[in-house]
Amino acid sequence: TFAVRAERIGVHNFTSIDVGRVVGSGIIKSYMESKGVRLKVNLDEPDIEIYALVRDDELIIGVNTSGDSLHRRRYRIYNHPAALKTTLASVLVRLVGFDGRRDFLDPMCGGGTIVIEALHRVRHYPNILFRYDYGYRKLRLYDKYVEDYVAEELMHGIRVGNERAFCIDISPKHIEGAKLNALSGRVLDAVNFIIGDSTRSETFKEISHNVNYIALNPPYGMRFHNPKKIPQFYETFVKTIKEQFSGAYMALITGSSNAMEQALSKYDIKITRSFWVMHGGIRAKIYLVKL
Ligand SMILES: C[S@@+](CC[C@H](N)C(=O)[O-])C[C@H]1O[C@@H](n2cnc3c(N)ncnc32)[C@H](O)[C@@H]1O
Repeated sequence: TFAVRAERIGVHNFTSIDVGRVVGSGIIKSYMESKGVRLKVNLDEPDIEIYALVRDDELIIGVNTSGDSLHRRRYRIYNHPAALKTTLASVLVRLVGFDGRRDFLDPMCGGGTIVIEALHRVRHYPNILFRYDYGYRKLRLYDKYVEDYVAEELMHGIRVGNERAFCIDISPKHIEGAKLNALSGRVLDAVNFIIGDSTRSETFKEISHNVNYIALNPPYGMRFHNPKKIPQFYETFVKTIKEQFSGAYMALITGSSNAMEQALSKYDIKITRSFWVMHGGIRAKIYLVKL
């Protein structure tokens, strides 16, 4: 069985449903001609998933080799209500340049996604440590020997050293959840958890001054917080973090970009890089700064 997942970007006089229908009937026709078999469509649990993307005047067709989206890493057992997508967390980690030699901090860590992604990156943890289901296994080109060989190489690549991270959140419940996620993500040994308010300098007393990499996903003020309070909240946070970790690199993602830009500029923090991304239907901006 198969399914076509169609997407469309640009202005056209047809819909993505039309794209799916036309590509689907093309596949049935061509398979019938070459194999003499009429393929069946199964939209819920297809053996093979075909992607058809119409982007302006291009049509790109591909086979889904990953199966479920790769941002579903499967280590997350505590689901924070505003959890960051693992892939975006990984972007923040890369941007800030964490290499494990100096410490890492997420001062509003929620369920710990960014800290876990940071440690996975420096330890070279492959996804296969947590996830076993991949779409390529259903394809004819799948070769178990090749897969075992690659898996072994990846497992040999793991490097566990003295890397350390700090995970702070104001909510004891989220810190408990972050501990569960770190345990399931096999990085509990490298994380120090602190319940505290990151807009207050006392919170950072227990933290080593070896922190050189900071990444966070602060509240945007859209879901649970009062949007009117966000500018003041960002300002107090930026002031405190700069006082505590002057010279450190900080990457962050927020849907309240104006408030963040004002706070950074008030404390003379220059933006090294910034770009827009979509996060759960919200347009959000990622920033890299040096404190
Ligand atoms: C958007 S969530 C972070 C989600 C996290 N990146 C994840 O993937 O699970 C923002 C977090 O900031 C925390 N927070 C809000 N105000 C804070 C403060 N003053 N100090 C520390 N944490 C705070 C909230 O409790 C919440 O967990």
